[in-house]
Amino acid sequence: MRIHGPMPSALPGETSELASPALRPSAAARSGRQTPQHVLLVDDEPDVLLGLRRMLEHAGFEVVAATNLATAGAALAHQPFDLILTDLYLGRHELGYHLAERARALRPSPPVIVLTARPSFDGAQEALRSHVADIVVKPVDAQTLLNTCRRVLQETALARRNQELESANRVLTSVLPRTIEMKDPTTSGHAERVVGYTDTLARRCGVSTEDRANLRLAALLHDIGKIGVPDHILTKPGALTQDEMEVVKRHPAMGFEVLAPLTEHADVRTWVYQHHERWDGKGYPQGLAGEEVALPGRILVLAEVYDALAEQRSYKPAWPIPKIVAMFRDQAGRHFDPDLAHLVADGLERMGNRFFAPTPGMLF
Ligand SMILES: [Fe+2]
Repeated sequence: MRIHGPMPSALPGETSELASPALRPSAAARSGRQTPQHVLLVDDEPDVLLGLRRMLEHAGFEVVAATNLATAGAALAHQPFDLILTDLYLGRHELGYHLAERARALRPSPPVIVLTARPSFDGAQEALRSHVADIVVKPVDAQTLLNTCRRVLQETALARRNQELESANRVLTSVLPRTIEMKDPTTSGHAERVVGYTDTLARRCGVSTEDRANLRLAALLHDIGKIGVPDHILTKPGALTQDEMEVVKRHPAMGFEVLAPLTEHADVRTWVYQHHERWDGKGYPQGLAGEEVALPGRILVLAEVYDALAEQRSYKPAWPIPKIVAMFRDQAGRHFDPDLAHLVADGLERMGNRFFAPTPGMLF
């Protein structure tokens, strides 16, 4: 937030045209905008109110004017506004920034700009505490005030867009993995742990920041294709038949299909598709070998197996570290990239499961 200093020229409008401004909608915007933005304008001085109103309307805004908190509050209850522009002192007893508290309870919540001819540190602090978007000191020229209004509107639109994106991101990074786990309860917490393991390993291997971000997403969603595997197969207590196994083996391809809308994350889809490949080419679905699977994809393969071994499952206890180390050494160059497998085995021998401890704050 910025506090603007006094500007040289005063606002226009000193006539007595404003006989009854409260709650009276203005004429349609003259600028030809398709959807004019609505401003609630509050000032206890009729001449100032009129001048501001003319200036805003001339700039294309729809304006509803009010001279006190009661009429302003009624206007807020009556219709949505994109912006509230209010004088700080309304008469002797009312403070315009109290509108910011009312505005915050609205959805969407309009930003509030406070105008004042008597700036004080206490007043500014109070306004800040009320989360006003900006404070403008009068007198202020029309262009500066309009620029402030437009900037605050742009910042508000940007903040709302970011909130929408965060909300969509939460669906991707928390709701989808929970959906997978609901489908396959034997793997509770699996995806989130694999995110941590892959990211730790990727960092140790010098994977780029961008690839690490995509790898975390791939790790989180790697089993999303399981939503296409029938429940009776996923939750079958005993060994699967050959046919059932073939159905399960389709889940990387189904995950690849489900993630098709992630057009800007081609690598995420690829690594999800490849998370059951093996270094020796005996994996599925494509039977890729060696470096045909890129390093981030090979890291995901290993991290996914590590979690399956290190965690207790309904059909097996958690493996002790020495047993996991022995398995990684044995499978180096077979199931796993040999360099990666020995790196992990060495790390586990040296640090135990702390080798895979994620760096705080480094995930999503
Ligand atoms: Fe899988």
